[in-house]
Amino acid sequence: MKNIKIGIFGYNRGGHLADNILALNGDIVAVCEKNEKYLNLAKEKLGDTATYYKDFDSFIEHSGMEAVLLANYFPEHAPYAIRCLEKGIHVLSECIPNGTMAEGVALVEAAEKSSAKYMLLENYPFMLFNQEMKKVCDGGSLGKILYAEGEYNHAGNVYSEDLNGLYDSLKHWRHYVGRTYYLTHSLAPIAYATGALPVRVTAMPVYCPAPSDCNRASYVGERAAIITTLNDDKSVFKFTGCATFGGSDNSYRICGDKGTIENVRGSEGKIMLRYNDWTVPEGKEKTNYYMPEWDDKDAELIKKAGHGGGDFCIIREFFDCIRQDKKPVFDVYFATRLSSVAILAHRSLLEFGVPYDIPDFRNKADRDKWKEDTLSPFYYSDGREPSMPCCSNPDYKPSNQQIDNVKKLIEK
Ligand SMILES: NC(=O)c1ccc[n+]([C@@H]2O[C@H](COP(=O)([O-])OP(=O)(O)OC[C@H]3O[C@@H](n4cnc5c(N)ncnc54)[C@H](O)[C@@H]3O)[C@@H](O)[C@H]2O)c1
Repeated sequence: MKNIKIGIFGYNRGGHLADNILALNGDIVAVCEKNEKYLNLAKEKLGDTATYYKDFDSFIEHSGMEAVLLANYFPEHAPYAIRCLEKGIHVLSECIPNGTMAEGVALVEAAEKSSAKYMLLENYPFMLFNQEMKKVCDGGSLGKILYAEGEYNHAGNVYSEDLNGLYDSLKHWRHYVGRTYYLTHSLAPIAYATGALPVRVTAMPVYCPAPSDCNRASYVGERAAIITTLNDDKSVFKFTGCATFGGSDNSYRICGDKGTIENVRGSEGKIMLRYNDWTVPEGKEKTNYYMPEWDDKDAELIKKAGHGGGDFCIIREFFDCIRQDKKPVFDVYFATRLSSVAILAHRSLLEFGVPYDIPDFRNKADRDKWKEDTLSPFYYSDGREPSMPCCSNPDYKPSNQQIDNVKKLIEK
């Protein structure tokens, strides 16, 4: 098996993927990280097997680097992805693929021109229960898929004094990430399992700001967005972006005209698969409640990997694409479609549910419509202020006490 020479850009999240890369015969030849803490972690782990950079311009020139894992700031992936693609370097990009609509168009155009592969690093579809749901959907016993739900519900203790790598400044993207933006973990698993892609979106805010004395200083007052899409096969999805309800969990449900499958909340990954009396397939019960098992040659490595094994599986997929010259499972069209849903759902949420059509960047007319749209609720990488609100309440902002608390924690 050919080793793949890969560089990591952003060693906070990127560092968590290093073991999987090494286990899959990836040679981590370069790391780019401006934060000393993470740079030192990389040096401890990789020693003199890698070269270390603090700026991307030198990193991208690293001789012989075939692929780059982009794990830099959330809304800043696309410009770096484009630069790699222009140099023929394969890209595995963390979410979100593009932070603006204009970047989505530019990313598609760069990927189309490039000899290199572009893939979204979306790990949640590879969690065991999500793979089981895809297998059952593909098997056909659910019938025609009509509806699916996805919840990525990831609350943190807002009084915790451990920032645990969450922020490095008060302008950091996590303070401005409108609730629809972080949606790949809720939408990708159901889109992957069913094969359906959104064509129209609407979103509602669930507004409930964090306590004014807590240790977080978010400009987002919502706890969740409830997003609904009409899809290209006439099915409907309902999902969150990143929600912070009590009782964190990731849960998914897919309904066909013959049966329904879901992972049971609070059950550590059990599946419930149910049919109507008259649609039970041979060999199944009306209600089937079971823990799926890995049926995979790499099961032992998968069980050790983060995010329910998803971190291993997504790196393996990417390396297989390069080694076997195959189409990425989450290619640039899939990736930018998810970003478009995130960005336009945010606009819908700000307008309390006005629907938006989701473009397909395969079409020139759709590209032309969006190629100049650079609106963003985040600080831009050149320091410009956000060009649109990140919250449905335009007057909401963190309290002075929250800001002081977070400043102290960042300086600690
Ligand atoms: N798929 C998952 O399960 C998962 C889990 C965690 C994070 N993520 C994603 O990973 C990305 C990174 O998140 P994070 O949690 O590591 O926090 P983060 O965004 O704060 O980390 C980004 C890192 O990149 C470095 N960096 C950014 N720009 C740089 C530049 N120009 N030059 C050098 N270094 C630079 C920063 O110093 C920082 O250490 C985000 O997109 C996030 O959404 C995904």
